[in-house]
Amino acid sequence: MNIPLSPRLANALEEHYKRLSSVHLRTLFQSDPHRFEKFSICWNEFLFDYSKNIITEETISLLLQLTTEVNLSENIEKMFMGQRINFTENRPVLHIALRNRSEQPIYVDGHNVMEDVKKVLEKMKAFSEDIRSQRWRGHSGKPIKHIVNIGIGGSDLGPRMVTRALTPYGNKEIKVHFVSNIDGTDIEEVLKAVELDSTLFIVSSKTFTTKETLTNAQTARKKLVDYFGGETKAVEKHFVAVSTNEKAVKDFGIDPKNMFEFWDWVGGRFSLWSAIGLSIVLYIGMDNFEELLYGAYLADSHFRNTPYEKNIPVIMALLGFWYGNYFGAETYGIFPYDQYLELLPNYLQQLYMESNGKRINKEGKVVNYQTGPILWGNPGTNGQHSFFQLLHQGTHLVPADFIAPIETHNPIGNHHLILLANFFAQTEALMKGKTEQEAMEEMQKENLTPETIARLLPHKTFPGNRPSNSFLIKKITPRTLGSLIAFYEHSIFVQGLLWNINSFDQWGVELGKQLAVKVEKELSQGSLLFEHDCSTKGLIEYYMKEARKNF
Ligand code: F6P
Repeated sequence: MNIPLSPRLANALEEHYKRLSSVHLRTLFQSDPHRFEKFSICWNEFLFDYSKNIITEETISLLLQLTTEVNLSENIEKMFMGQRINFTENRPVLHIALRNRSEQPIYVDGHNVMEDVKKVLEKMKAFSEDIRSQRWRGHSGKPIKHIVNIGIGGSDLGPRMVTRALTPYGNKEIKVHFVSNIDGTDIEEVLKAVELDSTLFIVSSKTFTTKETLTNAQTARKKLVDYFGGETKAVEKHFVAVSTNEKAVKDFGIDPKNMFEFWDWVGGRFSLWSAIGLSIVLYIGMDNFEELLYGAYLADSHFRNTPYEKNIPVIMALLGFWYGNYFGAETYGIFPYDQYLELLPNYLQQLYMESNGKRINKEGKVVNYQTGPILWGNPGTNGQHSFFQLLHQGTHLVPADFIAPIETHNPIGNHHLILLANFFAQTEALMKGKTEQEAMEEMQKENLTPETIARLLPHKTFPGNRPSNSFLIKKITPRTLGSLIAFYEHSIFVQGLLWNINSFDQWGVELGKQLAVKVEKELSQGSLLFEHDCSTKGLIEYYMKEARKNF
């Protein structure tokens, strides 16, 4: 592993890792009863407990030295000041401007982008008030009851996750639907579920060139126009667009006055704070959306101004790096103990894996160390009854974040208490494990025979020493959710610096898209036109033969 560190720090970390890798987390807890106070941060409505990590004060002190080596402070300022840190696309990275609630200007090429941000927010506000107060009517005079966001990736996952997470704040008169997949089933099922005369379609696409989104939007448009007996004028009242590409929006047939703009300095996966969040605004209202922005702004200020030893996203980043690059952990788990946060793992998957799934460093060379982890997860307690077995007794080390609200939106009986009991118990079990001695004593109490005990003993012991972070959040509100998401965004940024990669491009998604264009041509013409390997050729030919037989 050759992470770009000074030889002194690289050696110190390597040596420290060797020493610590043979120490069990149980021992660390036994030898220091103050770990919790030492390794937890209270911030606003958050408690971030990172004491169940394989770390000591020395680990943190060494890891913190990384922030100096990668010039973290300078790089944070570069981002906040609008420098072109996305150097392969020559763009600033300014999602922080979208939620800048201070009066501070942010300049790109001498232009204060805050003026543009405010203008679009005002337009979103006016529009959402029109929709929610039923002033805006569909072509036949009906109020809007269904919002359909058509988008994919960053133009889908953020709004989809946030509207689900903030269901308790949603307008009961409005249903929000999401269509992303090119699979016709996706759009078809949504079209079946809505009444077209009271539906607003939001075509969300940064580039307005994404095949899936445009195809789905065309299908929806055709369905709407047919519904209104071929009257294309109906589109005006039922379609709006969110994009950076005005020309393409116009070409699609959406009047630019019904377009909500954003800018190339907003990365797709960082765009829920922009007009891409329009479906969120229509559902939860502008005041709540502004709270979401405010929560993110608070986290931005925390990230920018807090010493790194008390800085939540910095500590998150350093711990992820510690496990990936020293312990060889290849994946990272996200386990929200809150059903409303069920889409958070999906959302973070794009954020992490599209940002830091890179193997070329800033100097254009292939790295020889591990970069971004494979991120995955599911809400608790469901996960406990499926994949947690592997976490407890499998051969992989999977560091994880456990996230839960203290107060639930649905205080029914003792559900929340049981939910949280499971959260705490799982992190404890992962950390402690169960020794042979403990397993033996348990079985002895059950009066099992010595032979049975001997046979079952290895199966009933748990190695423990599985690290986790715990986030306890007072309540999931627009504000706390905004902060939580921003913490993850910043942690990804810090990790990108540690790995010396560009976290803000995504060239890796292009090759498949290019090949799909060719194959699509072949499938629609019913014949092979390009060179393929024998597997791909075989698949295409088999499909064409079967499709001809069946349709
Ligand atoms: O293909 C990946 C990607 O470019 C993502 O980065 C992006 O969020 C998504 O596609 C959608 O792109 P657009 O908003 O331009 O339709």
